Amino acid sequence: MSRFQDKVVIVTGAAQGIGEAYAKGLAAEGASVVVADLNAEAGDQVAKQIRSDGGKAVFVPVDVSSPESAKALADATVAEFGGIDALVNNAAIYGAMKFDLLISVDWDYYRKFLDVNLNGALVMTRAVYREMRKRGGGSIVNQSSTAAYLYSGFYGLAKVGVNGLTQQLAHELGGMNIRVNAVAPGPTDTEATRVQAGDAAKDLVKNMALKRFGQPEDMLGAVKFLLSDDASWVTGQIIAVDGGQTFRL
Ligand code: NAI
Repeated sequence: MSRFQDKVVIVTGAAQGIGEAYAKGLAAEGASVVVADLNAEAGDQVAKQIRSDGGKAVFVPVDVSSPESAKALADATVAEFGGIDALVNNAAIYGAMKFDLLISVDWDYYRKFLDVNLNGALVMTRAVYREMRKRGGGSIVNQSSTAAYLYSGFYGLAKVGVNGLTQQLAHELGGMNIRVNAVAPGPTDTEATRVQAGDAAKDLVKNMALKRFGQPEDMLGAVKFLLSDDASWVTGQIIAVDGGQTFRL
């Protein structure tokens, strides 16, 4: 299995949860993976684990809301692996998110939240697209959520933005043969969801077509498809991987 041999992939928010599963799953198919996260200790562990399993990975710290930090990540990736082919914009404030309403959330918190959860994907894209163009193209997968289709306050609002960003960037980057798509996971069994959803999680599952939580690995097939040449004419799409939680006509 070496679908991503010689491909350099940056996965943000890869220190834990779904991003960790993406980093490990891509490395297992031959990708050179940059594990990028705010959390240096956990991120470094993920990269070490990949290497001890025989894969290629390095940890590079990043704050996706900072253009300077994103540029340093892109530079470090090129220095380590020689270029950039793919980016998975998975990082978000989720596990540590405050509960509040749009009508009452503190403005500074709201702005910081959107800076990370929405603008972070654009900041990262701006930092890497030139390197992708040098390689003749690339693929970007943004992490959305079915929260974009359900009431979920500023969290869902940011994911609606991620969906729109995916569609708009697909046009701005398509001429460079850079594809931009998104995956919208349903409720997934990560530590962050256990903190956020608590007991309400069981009710969520009852209303889904497939009566179980997603596991981080459930998203991997869709992400690998979108990053691979199998999806060479797929761009601007948002694919729900959600156990049938939502449907859209
Ligand atoms: P998580 O909270 O466990 O992981 C998020 C990661 O992003 C953490 O490692 C954190 O350190 C990192 N991060 C946060 N802010 C950052 C920043 N400014 N710069 C760099 N890294 C930063 O969340 P989980 O459950 O793994 O979710 C990952 C992604 O999937 C998020 O985008 C989340 O919104 C999305 N998602 C999660 C679902 C779930 O049920 N777990 C369902 C649908 C979408």
